[in-house]
Amino acid sequence: MLANRRDRNRRATVRLFAQGESMVRELLTKQNIEFAERAREVAEKHIRPIAAQHDVEQTYPWSAQKAIKEAGLSGVWIPKEYGGAGGGTMDLCLVVEEFARACGGMGVAYAVNALGSFPVILGGTDEQKARWLPGIAAGEKLISFGLSERDAGSDAGSMTTKAERNGDDYVIDGVKKWNTGGAVASYNTIFAVTQPGRGARGISAFVVEAGTPGYRVGKHEDKMGIRCVPVVEIHLEGCRVGKNQLLGGAEGQGFKHAMMTLDLARPGVAAQALGLAQGALDLAVEYTGKRKQFGQSINSFQGIQWMLADMATQVEAARQLVYAAARAADAKAKNLSKLSAMCKLFATDVAMMVTTNAVQLFGGYGYCKDYPIEKYMRDAKITQIYEGTNQIQRLVIARALLREAASAGE
Ligand code: CAA
Repeated sequence: MLANRRDRNRRATVRLFAQGESMVRELLTKQNIEFAERAREVAEKHIRPIAAQHDVEQTYPWSAQKAIKEAGLSGVWIPKEYGGAGGGTMDLCLVVEEFARACGGMGVAYAVNALGSFPVILGGTDEQKARWLPGIAAGEKLISFGLSERDAGSDAGSMTTKAERNGDDYVIDGVKKWNTGGAVASYNTIFAVTQPGRGARGISAFVVEAGTPGYRVGKHEDKMGIRCVPVVEIHLEGCRVGKNQLLGGAEGQGFKHAMMTLDLARPGVAAQALGLAQGALDLAVEYTGKRKQFGQSINSFQGIQWMLADMATQVEAARQLVYAAARAADAKAKNLSKLSAMCKLFATDVAMMVTTNAVQLFGGYGYCKDYPIEKYMRDAKITQIYEGTNQIQRLVIARALLREAASAGE
């Protein structure tokens, strides 16, 4: 029985990863493989064919969103009791990787729903989870994450958006920046100061529903990459929400939950970067086999082979670290912040290097929009910036390292 299952599992692995892909993926569970296979099918049928058009037009790929919903992938990370698939961070990462392999924008359009809903999962009451999670799990509702502001980016704790208690409500005022997916989301997890003067301990999180009076989508950014997903400002002007929209029902937990959310979500950005790097490598291998110069395919030159070998090695190393961090998240490992920052830092730098080299391998054609490769490079750049710049990741890693050293010395 078990042997049969293992056999089926192996056959599925071979089917999915038949194109000379990672041996690491042989270690995936049956559930991991099922999610990844479904995601790849959606990516190849419904994402790759429309990626260029939505990139040019800066329009949200609703048809891909519908396909994701129909494939039952909308709530991979959401617990079963709230209508989700009950998968973990590893499953989420595999799905994001497959989507990003076809289109980096769709990778984040999907992943941002995990970012927005993690604070509810981590800090919400049962009633709040039952109110917001099932719609997201069913793919009926999208959610975004409102932490950053114009003057509060890396220093997230310096936000000035305020939420003041007024009877049974809170009234929120402020402007949130870099809100990925905010223009299409039904819900937005908004972080605001409820107790001024208490620093990070004075910050709370609210779920604000689109359409609430005083909630308005502002400026749409005209971006270099991930152009299919809207990144917007969210204006909160006397926006009144019920006290039952304060996550966890207690003030002052918001910053901690934001940081815990980023620990869980950064492997998702790393998976997006990994998918972009793998996708660019796939295209580079294919192109260099077809392109002929000096009477032969350019992949017969050692200089080209060595570039491909370096790219493939970097991709594989990134995959190891992303999967290790995702498994650590699922195991609720203590050192998650460090590992999560490490995988984000490493995989996103790899994505930039691999996609840039892929453009190089396409030569002049790579620089033009006739070929899909330049989009990979544009999409990759943001992964080094959002959900904490790679400089902030280094800070998180170094702080953890020094803390560990100090406690070892005690
Ligand atoms: N888990 C739990 N608690 C944590 C934590 C973690 N990982 N990290 C910090 N905390 C807690 C601390 O214990 C501390 O709590 P106490 O006051 O009770 O002791 C509190 O949070 C403050 O911690 P710090 O003093 O370490 O905070 P800091 O001000 O020095 O900032 C930082 C730390 C790491 C720089 C943080 O501000 C940070 O991660 N900045 C980057 C923000 C970021 O990633 N923004 C991206 C937003 S999303 C986006 O990009 C857009 C999008 O839509 C995709």
